[in-house]
Amino acid sequence: MRYNSLLYFTQYLLAISFNTMESGALAISPAEYSATVSDSTTQKPPAVTAATVDPVCTWDGAQVFDDTTWTPVASYAYNNYTGPVVGPNLIDQDIMLMVNGLTVEEKVGQMTQIQVGQIIDCNGKLNTTAVEYWIDTMKVGSFLETPANHGGKYNWYSAKRFAEITDAVQAIALRRGSRIPVIWGLDSVRGANYIKGGTIFPAGIATAATFNPQHAYDAGRVAAKDTRAAGVHWAFAPIMDLSVNKLWSRVYENFGEDPFLSSLMAKSSIGGHQGDYKRDRSRVAACLKHFIGYGYPFDGSDRANRHIATHDLLEYYVPPFKAAIDAGSATAMESYGAVNSESVVLSKYYLQTLLREQLKFKGMLVTDWAEINTQATMYHTAKDVKQATQTALQRTSIDMSMVADDESFIKVTVELVKSGAVSERRLDESVARILQLKKDLGLFESPYADPQLASTVGSAQDIEAARNTVRESITLLKNTNGVLPLKLSERVLFLGPTLNSTRYMGGGWNVHWQGPSDKEGDAVYQGFGDTVLQGIQAVTGAAPQYLLGIDIGGTGTIDVDKITSAAQSADKIVIGLGENTYAEEQGNIDSLALPWQQLNLVYTVAAATKKPVVVVLIEGRPRGLANVPKIADAIVNAYLPGAYGGLPIAEVLYGKVNPSGRLPITYPATEAQASSTIWQASYSAYNPQWEFGYGLGYSNVTYSNVTLSSSSLTVGSPITASVTITNKGPYPQKEPVLLFTRQQYRLGYAPEHYRLRDFIKVDLAVGETKTVVLNLKAEDLAFWDRDLLRRIEPAPVNVVINPHVHKGLVAVVQLDADPDHVLERAPWS
Ligand code: BGC
Repeated sequence: MRYNSLLYFTQYLLAISFNTMESGALAISPAEYSATVSDSTTQKPPAVTAATVDPVCTWDGAQVFDDTTWTPVASYAYNNYTGPVVGPNLIDQDIMLMVNGLTVEEKVGQMTQIQVGQIIDCNGKLNTTAVEYWIDTMKVGSFLETPANHGGKYNWYSAKRFAEITDAVQAIALRRGSRIPVIWGLDSVRGANYIKGGTIFPAGIATAATFNPQHAYDAGRVAAKDTRAAGVHWAFAPIMDLSVNKLWSRVYENFGEDPFLSSLMAKSSIGGHQGDYKRDRSRVAACLKHFIGYGYPFDGSDRANRHIATHDLLEYYVPPFKAAIDAGSATAMESYGAVNSESVVLSKYYLQTLLREQLKFKGMLVTDWAEINTQATMYHTAKDVKQATQTALQRTSIDMSMVADDESFIKVTVELVKSGAVSERRLDESVARILQLKKDLGLFESPYADPQLASTVGSAQDIEAARNTVRESITLLKNTNGVLPLKLSERVLFLGPTLNSTRYMGGGWNVHWQGPSDKEGDAVYQGFGDTVLQGIQAVTGAAPQYLLGIDIGGTGTIDVDKITSAAQSADKIVIGLGENTYAEEQGNIDSLALPWQQLNLVYTVAAATKKPVVVVLIEGRPRGLANVPKIADAIVNAYLPGAYGGLPIAEVLYGKVNPSGRLPITYPATEAQASSTIWQASYSAYNPQWEFGYGLGYSNVTYSNVTLSSSSLTVGSPITASVTITNKGPYPQKEPVLLFTRQQYRLGYAPEHYRLRDFIKVDLAVGETKTVVLNLKAEDLAFWDRDLLRRIEPAPVNVVINPHVHKGLVAVVQLDADPDHVLERAPWS
């Protein structure tokens, strides 16, 4: 460990000599800097000795702490950065000087992140005494979150109100403590979902379903701007864990189960959040998370141990993180819990060898919430917080501890350094990365919010971008006899709990981490979205006929007589099913099945009315549908589209938008399939309800003539596969064209059912024919073996286009390679 520390320090010394100063030197030296920021007197005010924030607040769900109103501009100009990747780099000389000028206490403070609940009182106002305590006495350099998160004690704040808080904190930080601006982190994961009126995009799973990475870019760019409007510079996004176990409560946050799809989405999202972030002050630092293997908790419960062989970890779980690092992600967050029983936050293997040495991550690494503190209390992986802190600092490259609620990390780390158990150089490495990040984000130029940005929050332009993402994400899973699209002339009865709620469409990462509670209801979205019923009214021009049928939890009874009588004059029935927000403690589930009373609504209505039934799913993970796929005539999956999803869903139902989403996950048919993926071994049956990549459109698109540019595939000689697609009508169609491979055999290692290798989404007018060209490299077919060598086993490979929708056109290519040729090796192999 000592060796590694030295290695890093040497790297920084080199950086000082060869630094290119790409982002420009600090305008002022550290000494001048302190002088500039001190107030009229250069004397420091007396230290505050204790935080006095109200410890527990009771909140009845009705208090609104921010009644700010504003009229956003309809549109605004922005810089769509397309230049070379901008990312963390070497440490500038002035930053090293600044590090050297700090005391141990100040260094530890920079490495500490405290949650906003520590500095806000029960009346929703900033407690400046508490801020001074943390900044002056404890020297902390970072805060996180919104007052509305983690426990949800408070309502959400507009950008303007949020900025008043962050600006006030910055003003204190410039006068007190180390006089270094604080960096504030916020979970702006699908737009600035914690800023009131910030445009909320669909959840990651829906973004992935578009098979159009531009949407991940747009969501990231808007998130960055709205976050920055609140004086916050760092978004804890994107989330790129592979959603393997579908029971997991966090499935919806990620880009699905496939490494390739997740990689492209993650890369685009980083681009959107960060762009040219060292110059463009409407961008933020992104944060790849959660490193690593978080998406395969063995029993589906959040944080459960993940049993993932290391070569599988490298093969499937690492690629999205690699893509995000290559895309320049400025920061990373380690994952809760353990992989193969080894605690991630204490692991040299994951956080040093893999992340820093193999993947070459140069940015700033933060822990997840209280992860060091909870090693002893929750995971039993350390004796106490001191041992956990010492181990994390010695073994890993953690730079910042998201503490988030006490002084333990600060006190223990200072003790460890003063006793010589942890070297001060180890702190220097981390503090250098933190201060460099602050510099890159422009905090030393001005740490304050830009009031100009506030007027763009919630602009019509952003809302349209969010709706466009929803439009392209909605996935049509069944459509018998053309029951969809609905015709304006048809009489339709609408039923079910999810059609009349913005809250259920939002799900988590909306207002609070787990979304609004039952107590808050839908009212929290007033003015910031529309229900499906409102969308239908907008599309049809008439108030839809609606009955609840059954509530989201499936309590109460179905009034069959009432429904039957209402259905008498209806031509079709549309039923909205789905999940409540996880605020109501439904995050961890033992069974995929939706509440049986919801499913029973479909059975009862279909049997009693004999009318065609359309089911709309609004859910964060693929919930079990039992006989619904057989009984319903049409099924539409809208995932968690967000509060702006109502209109797009209505547009799809009525054919104003032709659905073009594809499942970014495997939709299980049985509980036993909870962890089935498209990349499972090809010798075990893959018979889910719907396959990865499945999804229909309203148009008849035909595929023909798959042609490979070569019959053999070798390292260094990529080939192309072309396919002809024709839209036979009757609607214009956005068509995702997906190229999979399936190796016929692989010596000693079971080949996967399918691996996604390339895709493109193509616009096809009615009657139009296009030749689509997709790419394939032999290197794509290399795999990590158990010796942690990445190599290729030669064999014939089936190249298959859209197997799940169009039965799959197959062309066979001969993969030629020397099986002993190693393309990559793990540093510890
Ligand atoms: C979540 C992270 C999040 C952090 C800060 C944790 O509970 O796992 O995804 O970024 O809280 O809110």
